[in-house]
Amino acid sequence: MKTTKQAITQAILGVCILLSASVEAKLPPLTVDSAKAELGKRLFFDTRLSGDDSISCSSCHIPQNGFSHPEALSPAYTGSDGFRNSPSLINTAYKEVWFHDGRIGTNLNDVVRENITEDWLMNMDMRLMQERIKQDPIYVEMFQKAGLGEPSNGGVRKALPEYLKTLTSKNSPYDLNNLSALASQGQALFTGKAGCSQCHTGELFSDGLAHNTGVPENPDIFTDPMRHQSFLAFNMFMGIQDYLALKRDVGAHVQTHKADGSDRGSFITPSLRELTYTAPYMHNGMLSTLDEVVDFYNRGGGQDSNKDQRMKPLSLSKQEQAALVAFLESLSGDPLIGDEYEWLEYDFGYEYTEDWSNAKN
Ligand code: HEC
Ligand code: HEC
Repeated sequence: MKTTKQAITQAILGVCILLSASVEAKLPPLTVDSAKAELGKRLFFDTRLSGDDSISCSSCHIPQNGFSHPEALSPAYTGSDGFRNSPSLINTAYKEVWFHDGRIGTNLNDVVRENITEDWLMNMDMRLMQERIKQDPIYVEMFQKAGLGEPSNGGVRKALPEYLKTLTSKNSPYDLNNLSALASQGQALFTGKAGCSQCHTGELFSDGLAHNTGVPENPDIFTDPMRHQSFLAFNMFMGIQDYLALKRDVGAHVQTHKADGSDRGSFITPSLRELTYTAPYMHNGMLSTLDEVVDFYNRGGGQDSNKDQRMKPLSLSKQEQAALVAFLESLSGDPLIGDEYEWLEYDFGYEYTEDWSNAKN
């Protein structure tokens, strides 16, 4: 039989285990193969991965902006323009579903392929990419060192995800359990009265599901012909029957295709980490600041017949809104800039192979 003392000791121990478990539950460290990641880093900053050698991954995912882009709608490949906000790539390696509409739910290898080959992103033929990188002796060496053999399309799709694994939150006040009094009050509101954690769950603050919050449309998609053409082409390609008549971004409907259209205008809950670097917000950049985002939720979100039932006016005081913003800010850590994260040496120029038809690599 247990004595009372033993029972108390056990209870205390249990609490300690629970507490330490909750600390460990914060984003777990990822095992990274450094030679592959180093290769991925060079590829990420190399414009030769785009069809006309004009943009690299880092043109739209800028390190200083938390690997997102400061314009509401992303730039795009030469001759077109984007219709979605470029998302942060920090912590993307922890995700299970990618893109604002969740159209890829397999792995980063597929996400990387999509970014390289999609016409409005990098518009690159993977076979051409393979030939280009084979001609660069630095790549030949780096692929060998990474154990990937000759430069290849498959190797690129392994190295880039490995590099993305290095882009994780570092030292945020939240991770260090170092919240200010205001941020702690905000955290209580986040999980309590403001109801944010109904969708922003877990250590990424995302349930990985699509919801409709009623974010207004970005009119530029419909008035700017360059953006509109990429938007139309994308929707046609995704099998949206009425793509020519669309007056809105249908969001997750491209993958769920509900016949009653109740899934139109829903988007994947984004992670809330590193927001201080990644303004503007939402799938179309329609909200510029975190104050605006909190004000948007306080009003119960936007207007939409498909809006999630949980979106209700919150009646938060000005002070409570400031506390929520302080909590959101506490989820951002050190900027991921400098040599560790960026390929700073511009060494992409190389001697072309003279007799390319007899080249060996
Ligand atoms: C022309 C701009 C542009 C370029 C270049 C670009 N991306 Fe993106 N990327 C985007 C946009 C915009 C999205 C979101 C698209 C959507 O949701 O429909 C995105 C989405 C992503 C995502 C999914 C993020 C998430 O959490 O859902 C990853 C990962 C990614 N890009 C990696 C890359 C990599 C790696 C490269 C280089 C091979 C690259 N991107 C090149 C604009 C770009
Ligand atoms: C019903 C689910 C739901 C609830 C409740 C909810 N959110 Fe969201 N949140 C979303 C979705 C979905 C998006 C993306 C919408 C879009 O892109 O159009 C989003 C986007 C955001 C963004 C923008 C992030 C970015 O990178 O663009 C912030 C910040 C945010 N929410 C904070 C909050 C806060 C604070 C609360 C509580 C007051 C809250 N959310 C409540 C589902 C929800």
